[in-house]
Amino acid sequence: MAQLWKGRFKKELAKETNDFNSSIKFDCRMFEEDIRGSMAHAAMLGYTNIIEKSESEKIIACLREILDDIKSGKLFIDMQAEDIHTFIEGELTARLGQTGKRLHTARSRNDQVALDIRLVLRKEIDEIAEKIRALIHVLCVKAEEHKTTIMPGYTHLQRAQPITFGHHLMAYAAMLCRDLDRLADVKRRMNVMPLGSGALAGTTYPLDRKMTAELLGFDDISQNSLDGVSDRDFCIELAAALSLVMVHLSRFSEEIILWCSWEFKFIELDDAFSTGSSIMPQKKNPDIAELVRGKSGRVFGDLTTLLTVMKGIALAYNKDMQEDKEAIFDAVDTVKMCLNAFTPMIDTMTVCKENMRNAAAKGFINATDCADYLVGKGMPFRDAYKATGELVAMCIDDNLTLETLPIEKYKSVCAVFDSDVYDAINLDKCVKDRKVYGGPCAQSVEEQIRITKEKISK
Ligand code: ARG
Repeated sequence: MAQLWKGRFKKELAKETNDFNSSIKFDCRMFEEDIRGSMAHAAMLGYTNIIEKSESEKIIACLREILDDIKSGKLFIDMQAEDIHTFIEGELTARLGQTGKRLHTARSRNDQVALDIRLVLRKEIDEIAEKIRALIHVLCVKAEEHKTTIMPGYTHLQRAQPITFGHHLMAYAAMLCRDLDRLADVKRRMNVMPLGSGALAGTTYPLDRKMTAELLGFDDISQNSLDGVSDRDFCIELAAALSLVMVHLSRFSEEIILWCSWEFKFIELDDAFSTGSSIMPQKKNPDIAELVRGKSGRVFGDLTTLLTVMKGIALAYNKDMQEDKEAIFDAVDTVKMCLNAFTPMIDTMTVCKENMRNAAAKGFINATDCADYLVGKGMPFRDAYKATGELVAMCIDDNLTLETLPIEKYKSVCAVFDSDVYDAINLDKCVKDRKVYGGPCAQSVEEQIRITKEKISK
């Protein structure tokens, strides 16, 4: 396909150069946004009398036809074209002749591409946020079901203190709520309209930039033409926000993988979300969770790509910036794919309450509560801590738990102990008493669910 900028060139572009230079294979997905951006631009050109009103109308009608034709499969995007902008403008001119050639008045591909990516990513952010909301909703439902399900809470992957499974799930809901906030924030800064920046130095035409911005649903227009065409902060910010989403999904995946193992068996994944082995008949593998954990690397890589592409670019546009699209689209697609698989996997998993409870019964996770019992009887915490440590050592020697250690042994370490200690170290009570705001008890989990549901309904 002929290039738009042919005028000053005497030779055709070498095929290798075209293949290398072309971005159509990855920017073709922006066809709708490119067309909608052009429609708004044409409307503004007509309104300001920069082009004839009738020509503006013809251009808009023809762009609509092109959009419909691409969508219905009547028109194929030419993969030899330089980029989507060239292709659409070429098609418009092929259909409209002279009038089509007026569309690019007061516009450059530099501000055009800056506009298109914003339009695409703005939509992608909404889609991703919706998927995150769906996952948070599933977490709230599961947490409600398991607000009294006792499980061991861990530090250093060592059993630490008793919590509820509902509380554990709501920790992920809290992370994902922050992800939603971050995405909204990225979108807010992204939602600035760059058309009018031209190639780099604005334009001499009397544009109504605010009108174009309004037609396309932007909150503001860019203030500096050099920045307008060369800002890709919003891609980097989005990749960073998506990287954090992946950090959260990856941590969650790691736990799913551990919990599915025979060593834990806290959960069982549904058959529809697990895979088998080609040789070991007994296997049921958590491949989805492993893939999500693995794919986090791609998204971090995309962020690094974008940072590296941008860090040495002199103002304003440089072709290096064409590299933005593959990286940010990959990040967006990866996160969407991960969420699509992850949410139903969580939704359909079976929780093995008994195993969680049994694990919580071992590992002395009520030792802090035992020390707190002594504190309740007036002992300073440090002394109580030491006395409880001695009791734990005794239990380990005799292969007992704090629940099964006889009262005489308690008394031998500290006379303050009485038989009400067994009540104080009862796991259900230990959790129930953790009533502090943000704690693991049932009311606290209910409160977390309430607040979270409110957040995702906005
Ligand atoms: N395909 C190009 C990109 O993605 C569009 C902008 C081209 N501008 C230019 N001056 N060559 O960045």
